[in-house]
Amino acid sequence: MKSGRSKLDKWDDLHMQVFNKPTPNEIKIAAKALKDGNLVAFPTETVYGLGGDALNEKAVRRIYLSKGRPLDHPLIVHISSIDLINEWAIDIPKYALELANEFWPGPMTLILKRNYLAKNFITGGQDNVGLRVPAHPVAIALLKRFEEIGGFGVAAPSANRFGAVSPTTVAAVSEELSEYLGQQDLILNGDQCKIGIESTIIDCTKNNPAILRPGAITHKMVKSTISIDVTFDQGRKIVKSSGLLDSHYSPKTKVLLNKEPSPGDGLLAMDNVLTPIGVIRLASPKTIEQYAMVLYEAFRSGDQKGVKRIIVIPPEGDGIAVGIRDRLLKASAG
Ligand code: TXA
Ligand code: MG
Repeated sequence: MKSGRSKLDKWDDLHMQVFNKPTPNEIKIAAKALKDGNLVAFPTETVYGLGGDALNEKAVRRIYLSKGRPLDHPLIVHISSIDLINEWAIDIPKYALELANEFWPGPMTLILKRNYLAKNFITGGQDNVGLRVPAHPVAIALLKRFEEIGGFGVAAPSANRFGAVSPTTVAAVSEELSEYLGQQDLILNGDQCKIGIESTIIDCTKNNPAILRPGAITHKMVKSTISIDVTFDQGRKIVKSSGLLDSHYSPKTKVLLNKEPSPGDGLLAMDNVLTPIGVIRLASPKTIEQYAMVLYEAFRSGDQKGVKRIIVIPPEGDGIAVGIRDRLLKASAG
């Protein structure tokens, strides 16, 4: 756990229960809590999600209320394997199945034409549904157990207030949502998320796929898996998608890109960039993968340390750097 979080080390102060490194029995308890209509925040390899039974309208309503998210922004349904895909989606193009087979479990969400399980309260009234099989062992164990007791999928947006930075640690989940969760709700602690930015979202409702939100599954990886063209098209207006809003993923402190930092500012940049005197270094990742992993924690530490502004030197290049720059542009907008 990072320093400066000591107030959150005392989990007893919180309303909901936290299971640290959950045992199989605690996973069972969490799955049952979901089945009973409660909310369970859980780790994925990208960011923490705030989970609820995707077939339970009341539970889903509570997710929206806890996040303060508009009701017409759809939620991603998480399933334990591709086996449940046909319950949620219909008319699935061949390329989408190829992507699912290649990258699930993993940091990729497919937008597909919805089938009977995907009700309006999940899809924001749209005709399509977002599906993902996450790779984190705690997430997979939870989803498997939930399905064993009759569940079909767990709706889970990132476990933060609407417009704020996604949580990549359990302390960040508590900071964001502890006020809004109740005694029946749970948080599963699975350590810091390894990827650190949200899944790649790919629209698979048309003849050709389009990447709507870049992430760890890159354009190049998608292109080399399927034989048809994939566009990078965040402007494809098929959907209401909050992550696609111009301003999102923002800390409270103002974020500025490629500016000279002054004393009192926070700085996030690759480790070859020096820290000027009086500037507070927020992170010094050595690789772009590390950059993604520490990005949101660096934003949070900027807020906590009360820096004047957060100055960011974005990473260059392809791969996950594309997703990082996307989040940085949104964090610095508005
Ligand atoms: O990595 C992730 O995707 C994380 C983890 C928890 O799985 N989840 C996540 O969910 O980032 P969320 O709701 O914070 O962001 C998902 C984005 C939102 O902008 C949402 O509007 C969009 O995906 N989305 C979800 N379902 C959609 C659909 N059927 N059509 C279009 N956009 C959709
Ligand atoms: Mg989100």
